[in-house]
Amino acid sequence: MKNYSLIIIFFLSLFRLSAQDLRQEFSLKEGWKFTKGEVQNGESLQMDEEEWQSVTVPHDWAIYGPFDENNDLQVVAVTQNGEKVASRKTGRTGGLPYMGIGWYRNTFDLATIDTASQRVFVIFDGAMSEANVFLNGQKVGFWPYGYNTFYFDITDKINQSGEENLLAVRLENKEQSSRWYPGAGLYRNVHILVVPKVHIPIWGTYITTPFVSEEYASVNIKTEISNIQEGEALSITTRILDPQGQLVSQKTNTQKLSHGRPLEQYLTVEVPELWSPETPHLYSAHSVIEFQGKKIDEYSTTFGIRKVEFIADKGFFLNGQPRKFKGVNLHHDLGPLGAAVNTAAIRRQLQIMKDMGADAIRTSHNMPAPELVQLCDEMGLMLMVESFDEWDRAKSANGYHRFFEDWAEKDLVNMVRHYRNNASVIMWSIGNEVPTQCSPEGYKVAKYLQDICHREDPSRLVTAGMDQVSCVLDNGFAAMIDIAGFNYRTHRYQEAYERLPHSLVLGSETGSTVSSRGVYHFPVEKASQVLHEDHQSSSYDLEYCYWSNLPEDDFALADDFPWTMGQFVWTGFDYLGEPTPYDTDAWPNHSSMFGMVDLAGIPKDRYYLYQSIWNTEVETLHILPHWNWEGREGESVPVFVYTNHPKAELFVNGESMGIRDKGEYNSLQERYRLMWMEVPYQAGELRVIAYDENGEKMGEKTIHTAGKPDHLLLQPEQESLIADGEDLAFFRVQVVDKEGNLCPVDQREVSFSVAGEGLFRAVANGDPTSLELFHLPQMKVFNGQLTLVVQASKLPGEVKITAKAKGLKSAVYSLHSQPSE
Ligand code: GAL
Repeated sequence: MKNYSLIIIFFLSLFRLSAQDLRQEFSLKEGWKFTKGEVQNGESLQMDEEEWQSVTVPHDWAIYGPFDENNDLQVVAVTQNGEKVASRKTGRTGGLPYMGIGWYRNTFDLATIDTASQRVFVIFDGAMSEANVFLNGQKVGFWPYGYNTFYFDITDKINQSGEENLLAVRLENKEQSSRWYPGAGLYRNVHILVVPKVHIPIWGTYITTPFVSEEYASVNIKTEISNIQEGEALSITTRILDPQGQLVSQKTNTQKLSHGRPLEQYLTVEVPELWSPETPHLYSAHSVIEFQGKKIDEYSTTFGIRKVEFIADKGFFLNGQPRKFKGVNLHHDLGPLGAAVNTAAIRRQLQIMKDMGADAIRTSHNMPAPELVQLCDEMGLMLMVESFDEWDRAKSANGYHRFFEDWAEKDLVNMVRHYRNNASVIMWSIGNEVPTQCSPEGYKVAKYLQDICHREDPSRLVTAGMDQVSCVLDNGFAAMIDIAGFNYRTHRYQEAYERLPHSLVLGSETGSTVSSRGVYHFPVEKASQVLHEDHQSSSYDLEYCYWSNLPEDDFALADDFPWTMGQFVWTGFDYLGEPTPYDTDAWPNHSSMFGMVDLAGIPKDRYYLYQSIWNTEVETLHILPHWNWEGREGESVPVFVYTNHPKAELFVNGESMGIRDKGEYNSLQERYRLMWMEVPYQAGELRVIAYDENGEKMGEKTIHTAGKPDHLLLQPEQESLIADGEDLAFFRVQVVDKEGNLCPVDQREVSFSVAGEGLFRAVANGDPTSLELFHLPQMKVFNGQLTLVVQASKLPGEVKITAKAKGLKSAVYSLHSQPSE
């Protein structure tokens, strides 16, 4: 988004450039018409789209459901999971109707365009998928990969008068084209860009900081110019502004253009404010191009100054400080909003991850939305930007391998150019568990892709998430990738470290522990691939997959070996699709259970386990399970405490259950969690008192057996809304007793109404088996809780939210929606 600082968003499809404006960009959000299914000549000017649905973009056509196991039923063997025999797979890609063809049409007007002196582009931040784009009835281009940003020069098809240009897009999602819910349609933003004929192209600057110290940083800026003749002399002036907007460096160069080489400038910044997750300082470079004394174009690039090092045996260093990645994998869907991009929803996801102490995200397994990258720059999260889940060999019958040969280079070029100036981007990933890793020619394909990244961005290293440890150690695949990333297989790390030339190992995918928020199964035992009758996984955080592990294995590797670089946990949030271990004939499961946070954005217990180790700024003292076990009186209900304190004592109704001390462990679990395995249940009060090493009291926490459900609570996650038509407010809705204790086994339906300057947008309860639709204003709470999403209108004012449920006192909340700038 750095290139979009001049974005002006108009909400009507009428745009006028004044004569002085050199460039202008706007997003096409409103006024779209959409229809599902094939339309003959859907691009034609004569087509009558009256009957089509009116939609705003970003739009995900599939998230409105209905869920149905036949939407994505597959009879396959998931070879990646070691399956040899085909079986009936349900909910694997979310059980939503994303397959098939969809058409979108919109019109936009421009002021008179002089095609001799101007250029017009259409930019898609991503379109799912196999996009065929038409302007004014004529084909403009094709882009198959649904996750990448792409653009076309549409100057020669624009109406000369500039008025009433018809943009039409045909999208198609084939069956078995994904391993998770991909979303469908124009799910990311679409922009129109008008620039002078001689201009700095899209992603036309490249900024690196070859030398970084506390005293100063050198800044190298390469600027490309399009449509100018060889040998012409241009002058370029670049001004660097610091994070406070003050001019800190400036340089003018006059250079002759030769052989398409970019203009190159070196500047310095004294006493730079370095970018890090804790200090996300951003600089900006403003470049003005002059030709024969006249300004012909200008461009703005946001960047950061930071030093990234990977040192053999010692690990990863940022700005000279060693650190281990406290990372999470995130798929791109936004739970109840589906794949449709929304800045407020992404910001919320990232904030929840940061509050847990995460400092890095892997964009599994594809290019992220530009909004996410910009937010990571601003909020301070390091990024591993990933490209592919498949290369030339298939994982899904209709996956990316169909396009790999012709499109891989184009896709990587767009990805790297798009994000190579972003401070948050620490490394590129060329692939995830690609079957090609075991082919004898695999290293050649990897080298081809790695070389493209190096060519486009020599300043960053490249990784890949590898799972076939024996193959990649034996065939040289792992040895030739800059950073060896391993998915699971923690027992092979030491061997990989010893055999690889890097003498470093990264956990590109770790954990894959499964749990359902608020669900606890007995007996409490560590096990893989456990299936329970209720189709839920236990929140005692002891269940995992046969290829994966519990969080403690990864914590110990990070703590015990300097050559480990940390990890990216699978996953930060639950996502639609991949309902492992309930993926084989186990409908209605249709969303993952890997998240530390559920699909509604509500933390599961596991969130606090990571927080207790990763976030050193806050006290964590979390007790599980809940204490409402009517019928289990006298039977044992194990109690776990996730805390940053080294030891604690547990009391049931005042009676001590003893002290647990992380220093005295017999298992990895006991090293990182405090566990009382024999606690006879008795309704009442569960209290934990935490101590330091010397036995000094450090903190205390109590939970109670909840009484009869009494009323609803509507708790806002934010103070206010911005009246821009897109901002979202999230509310935690809880069923509570008279004293306000959560009723943790309540599953009743709650209904919502929103009045004033806001709209009901969605609701989600985080139950991976729930077939209730997200866009309808009622849903059952899952174990007493759900999340309501309210969207701002474009007018400032009060928004009044009411939540009602049978047998409970209602909740009402008023929120102020502020004018947008
Ligand atoms: C990995 C894979 C992920 C996800 C995960 C589930 O092997 O890379 O995409 O499928 O397993 O554990």
